[in-house]
Amino acid sequence: MSKPTLAFIGGTGAEGRGLASRFARAGHPVRIGSRDAARAEQAASTLRAALPEGANVWGGGNAEAVAAADIAVLTVPYEAQRATLEVLRGGLSGKIVITAVVPMEFREGQARAIAVAEGSAAEEAQALLPQSRVIGAFHHVSARKLAKPGLPVEGDCLVLGDNAEAKATVMALVEEIEGLRPVDAGGLAAAYPVEIFTAALVSINRVHRLETGVRIVGLREAP
Ligand SMILES: NC(=O)c1ccc[n+]([C@@H]2O[C@H](COP(=O)([O-])OP(=O)(O)OC[C@H]3O[C@@H](n4cnc5c(N)ncnc54)[C@H](OP(=O)(O)O)[C@@H]3O)[C@@H](O)[C@H]2O)c1
Repeated sequence: MSKPTLAFIGGTGAEGRGLASRFARAGHPVRIGSRDAARAEQAASTLRAALPEGANVWGGGNAEAVAAADIAVLTVPYEAQRATLEVLRGGLSGKIVITAVVPMEFREGQARAIAVAEGSAAEEAQALLPQSRVIGAFHHVSARKLAKPGLPVEGDCLVLGDNAEAKATVMALVEEIEGLRPVDAGGLAAAYPVEIFTAALVSINRVHRLETGVRIVGLREAP
């Protein structure tokens, strides 16, 4: 069976490109989206050059990328989320929308959480996209780690969502990235602490001059 096509909204950024390269390597058709189609095609062309021959990577406008995809991945800064989703709402209808968006800003060099009226960036996205199934994932997965092909991405990926089938689909996708373990972290109501823990990782990374991730201990492993 062919693998689902993934569209990356804001896929020209570090996180979108990193995830896109890993999923393209895993055999998914990948669509890089941007506000500027030429910028997306440039990013796609750079990705293709770094991937094994035959990788199915294409770039275009965000709406075009979404229209061509089975599943969309939102990788824009939080400040851009509302305006981006309002424009793409129709094209995202009926689809799974994975969001890696962290409501975080840098003030005086420090990562700070942004308060979100809906509770979390993921809940805001779900409120903006009532006809889509929003799933939070990849908040703690560093773009710099993703950008190193051949190196496993060590750690856990906390996956949040209110639709069990969509969450299972995304957990299976996470498993396609070598080294990454999906962990069901509950419904979207639990998303905010997961999202803003990324600010703690930014601080830890700064202290240790490393790219860290998270690992949940105490889970029952498969026998
Ligand atoms: N970087 C990481 O390691 C990491 C890890 C986990 C989660 N995240 C989260 O993933 C998301 C993307 O991170 P990133 O580092 O890739 O961010 P980024 O490079 O700052 O932005 C990603 C893309 O979003 C688009 N964008 C920027 N401003 C926009 C605006 N005002 N309106 C619409 N689109 C806009 C741009 O694409 P175009 O200009 O081409 O449209 C940009 O290339 C963020 O929410 C971040 O918190 C990042």
